[in-house]
Amino acid sequence: MCAKQKILFIMDSIIIQGGNSLNGRVNISGAKNAALPIMAASLLACGKLHLSNIPKLTDIYTMKELLANHGASIEVTDKNDSYDLAIDCSNISNFEAPYDIVRKMRASIWVLGPLLTRFGKAQVSLPGGCAIGARLVDLHINSLEAMGATIEIEHGYIKASCSGRLKGVHFNFNKISVGATINAIMAATLADGETVLMNCAREPEIVDLCKALRQMGAEIQGEGTDEIKITGKESLKDASYKIMPDRIEAGTYMIAAAITKGNIDITGIDYHILENLGLKLASAGVHVTPFNEGVNIKCNDIIKPVDVHTEVYPGFSTDLQAQFMSLMCISNGTSVITENIFENRFMHVPELCRMGANIAISGHTATIRGVEALSGAEVMASDLRASVSLVLAGLAAEGETIIRRVYHLDRGYQQLEQKLSACGADIRRVKG
Ligand code: UD1
Repeated sequence: MCAKQKILFIMDSIIIQGGNSLNGRVNISGAKNAALPIMAASLLACGKLHLSNIPKLTDIYTMKELLANHGASIEVTDKNDSYDLAIDCSNISNFEAPYDIVRKMRASIWVLGPLLTRFGKAQVSLPGGCAIGARLVDLHINSLEAMGATIEIEHGYIKASCSGRLKGVHFNFNKISVGATINAIMAATLADGETVLMNCAREPEIVDLCKALRQMGAEIQGEGTDEIKITGKESLKDASYKIMPDRIEAGTYMIAAAITKGNIDITGIDYHILENLGLKLASAGVHVTPFNEGVNIKCNDIIKPVDVHTEVYPGFSTDLQAQFMSLMCISNGTSVITENIFENRFMHVPELCRMGANIAISGHTATIRGVEALSGAEVMASDLRASVSLVLAGLAAEGETIIRRVYHLDRGYQQLEQKLSACGADIRRVKG
């Protein structure tokens, strides 16, 4: 993409004429939050990692750019609904992840563990904060230091090195972090001896990463629990792996069906990893019917208020908080949503209020008094999940909603307008 195209792309808006109830079927794409760490894991192997079901998202292009910057050669096959990638990291020649790439995507931090453990050196720009909070990296650093790495922060970079291999270690995270668990697992796959990581995150995307690593020859036990044991190997090898479906995309369409009083089959997903959302929707009066590899969501009733607090998996995901809040805006009572993971993840609230929502924030808690109907307005997207919560609100609102800065959406929702229009939404993208 040339610079001029990029500028046009970031100026795109989405225009929705609200009020259509959504009916039909949505097939879920590959999970961004599994694909990104698994792409980074390709740096661990001398051979090729063949990946399928890679979603077509800008974060994926950024990770591809980052890996290419390190010297990886990447073949891309377009499979219409997804990409296949063949990533060859036999000739890695550059160990620095520059600010210019890292600033676009925090997931870039996941090259730190693989580069360090395989080559003994890595320099990764500090990702810094973002719209939703400070987003520290101390747990990533502490776990790698515990494995014997020397790490200095200099000129905005994490500079890591080790002489010889990293060493297996027993390490307890003092806070649960998805990102740090991922980096530590990857680093431990090539460390000398056994690593036991305690107080790990249990997200399904971590399980997916461990399955991919096992295909590459890693020895890992306990993924999906809070204690993960890794026996380091001298090297990892060629492998093929299919990325799991995106539970946050699926959850977003579940809420889309509910908020538009629609009836949608969401396919290609294991409902069990979305059970927490399903239970909350059922409490709100929505019909939730799981089937083999999917779930039907049907809503023909008034939405009841339901309280939610975000937690680490298997609790209610912070990545579905904004979308659920849009739904609660039209409930017939008062609900309370508490955000426990990030300190500043209510950026969607002022925009929802511009659409007629009645929401009061106090610290980490939002109190939502349901209104009869939202009204279309011009709103601004601030981060990925906040953006999609405005799309959901726009689908339910009376009249026209225009959402600016939709480039956030392209980081996490493949063919959003196409998938929603196929179910009857009146939604279109306007080029900048
Ligand atoms: C988090 C979510 C993940 C979601 C992702 C994108 C959780 C536990 N994690 O993952 O589900 O997909 O955002 O929105 O819900 N922290 C530190 N030090 C560190 C790393 C993290 O203090 O070194 C803190 C963070 O500031 C945050 C919490 O720990 O308050 C969880 O962070 P972490 O799970 O690492 O965030 P992500 O990996 O981005």
